[in-house]
Amino acid sequence: MKNLLLVIATFFSVAAMSAPALANGDGEELFKKKCKSCHTYKDASKHGMGPSLFGVMGRKAGTVSGYKRFSDGMKASGVVWDDASMDGLMANSTKFVEGGNMKGIKIKDAGDREKIIAYIKTLK
Ligand code: HEC
Repeated sequence: MKNLLLVIATFFSVAAMSAPALANGDGEELFKKKCKSCHTYKDASKHGMGPSLFGVMGRKAGTVSGYKRFSDGMKASGVVWDDASMDGLMANSTKFVEGGNMKGIKIKDAGDREKIIAYIKTLK
């Protein structure tokens, strides 16, 4: 009985240690899961269904060259991509850019958004 309790206690402490790591993931993994299906990120001249996110930080929204499908809403948004605007877009993309074409993206966890932003900053 004592051994069994020890096994159970060990199991729960291992579970407790690994759970946060799993829940957090890391920025690159989150980006690949949530953004990569529509966005390229290795080259600012190759676009997917969405514009390339290579070097996007500091850029004015809707201006990257070669991407022809920007919505009028994105072009008129006046947004410059920085931590705050990227956070806002990811938190609720439909609301953040009125009339934008990137719809329905909602990364609910602020920590996840922070990690994705940190990863996007490395894309340059
Ligand atoms: C279902 C496809 C799709 C997914 C998934 C998606 N996007 Fe987009 N994204 C788009 C489209 C389409 C546009 C262009 C929107 C427009 O012109 O209104 C865009 C535009 C953007 C822009 C503006 C770029 C610029 O040059 O102004 C940023 C920044 C962006 N997305 C970030 C992200 C991030 C970060 C994620 C992941 C959390 C993500 N997107 C997930 C389709 C997507």
